[in-house]
Amino acid sequence: MPLLGVNIDHVATLRQARRGVEPDPVWAAVEAQLGGAGLITVHLREDRRHMNDDDVRRLRPVVQVPLNLEMAAVTEIRRVAMEVMPQMVTLVPEKRSEVTTEGGLNVKAQGGSLRQFIAPLKKKGIVASAFIDADIDQVRAAAEAGFDVCELHTGPYSLADGRRRPSELDRLRQAAEEVVNQGMQLNAGHGLNYENVKPAAALPHMEELHIGHSIVSRSVFIGLREAVRQMRELIES
Ligand code: PXP
Repeated sequence: MPLLGVNIDHVATLRQARRGVEPDPVWAAVEAQLGGAGLITVHLREDRRHMNDDDVRRLRPVVQVPLNLEMAAVTEIRRVAMEVMPQMVTLVPEKRSEVTTEGGLNVKAQGGSLRQFIAPLKKKGIVASAFIDADIDQVRAAAEAGFDVCELHTGPYSLADGRRRPSELDRLRQAAEEVVNQGMQLNAGHGLNYENVKPAAALPHMEELHIGHSIVSRSVFIGLREAVRQMRELIES
């Protein structure tokens, strides 16, 4: 049964609307854990548009489940990662103009430099994950570059209408098989919600689903602890 990784950046996004202190993502991490989160995920962006370095440092002792730090392959953020020591780092592409992460990392084009980038993290015992599109060549490139985990981008599946959804799910299934064949851990995420999560959770060998926006959106009405509990129930049913 996959673990539910809860992405709490969206709480920091709300705080940044007023550039104040509330809502505090550290409180969100506590509530998410009480609701049954199996991991907590935060994205420390280069532009610090939501989470900042202080948030990540304050989160570290409060997060009792594994902490997954999303980041671009830049040395400044890697320095923070090596200080804070999350259990896992997920490399994502980052563009300043995007509202959220738009596509997967192009490991095929940057394999050698990514291998060098993750080496010091791996040496410190941090698991290296690549957020990639559901593409066999990208999966093979991730294995070649030394990643331990692939997080498959579920955005196209999540956005697909009823007619296209089966083919997008099939694409995920094929890439997922290759992740496992290459000896890596299989994770997935982006755009998953209460309506579309079950088929993704049922993919063979799925270990973690990383979900943020839909959970935090529901939490406005029913609280974060209950929103996480409901998502977990769906994943486990
Ligand atoms: N995985 C990655 C790599 C992401 O960048 C995001 C978005 O922050 C998510 C998962 C979660 O996506 P969503 O907020 O749409 O659930």
